[in-house]
Amino acid sequence: MFFYSLVLVCVGLVSRGASAACSREFLQGATSAYLQAQAAGSPPKLAVLASNFSYAENDTPLDITKGVLSQPLIIDFSRSIYDTVQCATFTEITAATSPHPYVIHTRMLFNAGDGQATKIESVVTDAGDWAFNATGHLFYTRQETWDIIPEAKRDTRAVIQAAADAYLDQWGNPDHPVPLGTPCVRLEGGFYSGKNLTANTCRMGAFPQPLNVTNRRYVIDVELGAVDVFNDFPWLDQSKPGGATPSTNFIRVEGGTSSPVFSLLPSPMSLETVRQVQGKAAGDDGKGKAAGDGKEGKAKG
Ligand SMILES: *[C@@H]1O[C@H](CO)[C@@H](O)[C@H](O)[C@H]1NC(C)=O
Ligand SMILES: *[C@@H]1O[C@H](CO)[C@@H](O)[C@H](O)[C@H]1NC(C)=O
Ligand SMILES: *[C@@H]1O[C@H](CO)[C@@H](O)[C@H](O)[C@H]1NC(C)=O
Ligand SMILES: *[C@@H]1O[C@H](CO)[C@@H](O)[C@H](O)[C@H]1NC(C)=O
Repeated sequence: MFFYSLVLVCVGLVSRGASAACSREFLQGATSAYLQAQAAGSPPKLAVLASNFSYAENDTPLDITKGVLSQPLIIDFSRSIYDTVQCATFTEITAATSPHPYVIHTRMLFNAGDGQATKIESVVTDAGDWAFNATGHLFYTRQETWDIIPEAKRDTRAVIQAAADAYLDQWGNPDHPVPLGTPCVRLEGGFYSGKNLTANTCRMGAFPQPLNVTNRRYVIDVELGAVDVFNDFPWLDQSKPGGATPSTNFIRVEGGTSSPVFSLLPSPMSLETVRQVQGKAAGDDGKGKAAGDGKEGKAKG
C-alpha cells in the first residue's frame, strides 16, 4: 500500500519535470503514504526503494517488514515537515490510544531525480523509554498550532538550523547562548516543561558532564519554521560507545530574522524523544534527574 501509493505519487509528479520529485506535494504524498502504511500495519513493498535503501529503528538496521511498520497503530495525531532542498521528510506520530502506545519520529530521504526512497529511519519510543507518556504527549502536542509562516516573516534554513544547533550546543556548555523566545516550552516524552503557554521554560540546566551532541541529521522546513534533528544523546547508555542513545529534537523557530533574538519555540514543542535501551537507563544515580530536568519520567532502571 505504502509503496503502491508512492509509485503513484512518483509517476504523477516525476513526469512533470526533473525536480518534481522534491516538490512539497511529492513529500506530502510520501508522508501520507507512510502514515497510511503505519495505520494499516502493512510495511512497504520493495518496489520503489532505491538500490541503496536502508531502514533503521533506534539506529539499528532492520528489515522494514519486521519493524514497527508491520503493526497497525491508531494514530491519534501526527505532524510532518518537508525539506524540499534535501528531498527529505520528518513525521511525528503519537499513538496514545493504540493497544501498544508509541511515540515515533521518522525521517525519510528520497532521490530527487526519480523519487525513490533511499532511507527511512525512526526513533521508536514506548513504555520504559525516557519520560515516555504517550497520553501526555498527545495532550500537549495537540495544543500546538504550527501554521505556515507568511513568506516575509520566514527565517532562512541557516537561521533555523542555527537555532537547533544552539539548543544542542548548550548541552555541552551551560553558558552557550541560546536566544530563546517566549513562549517557549519543551515536551520531553510526555513531560511538559511549561506551566502555562506564556512562559519560557526551554533552558536546560547543566548536565553533570558536558554533552557533545554529535551525528546530527537535519530535516528543515522553511515554510513551517521547523527543524528536526536526529542526534546521538551521549552518556545515557553505558552499553554503547560514548553512551550514545538515539534521540531526536523537533523544534519550531519563529522570528529569527525579524528580531535580534529568535524564538526557539519548541513552544510548541520541542519534542525531545530520547530512546532508552531497555535495562540501560539513567536510573537512580542522579543522571536521570539531570537529563530530564528532574521533573518526572524516571526511566526504567
Ligand atoms: C543512494 O544513491 C543515490 C544515487 O542513486 C545517492 O544520490 C544517494 O545519496 C544515496 N543515498 C544513500 C543514503 O546512500
Ligand atoms: C501522562 O500524562 C497525562 C496527561 O498529562 C497525565 O494525566 C498522566 O498522569 C501521566 N501519566 C504518567 C504515568 O505520568
Ligand atoms: C506563567 O508561568 C510563569 C513562569 O512560571 C509565571 O511567571 C507567569 O506568571 C505565569 N502566567 C500566568 C498567566 O499564569
Ligand atoms: C564533539 O565531537 C566531535 C566528533 O568526535 C568533535 O569533532 C568535536 O570537536 C567535539 N566537540 C566538542 C565541543 O568537544
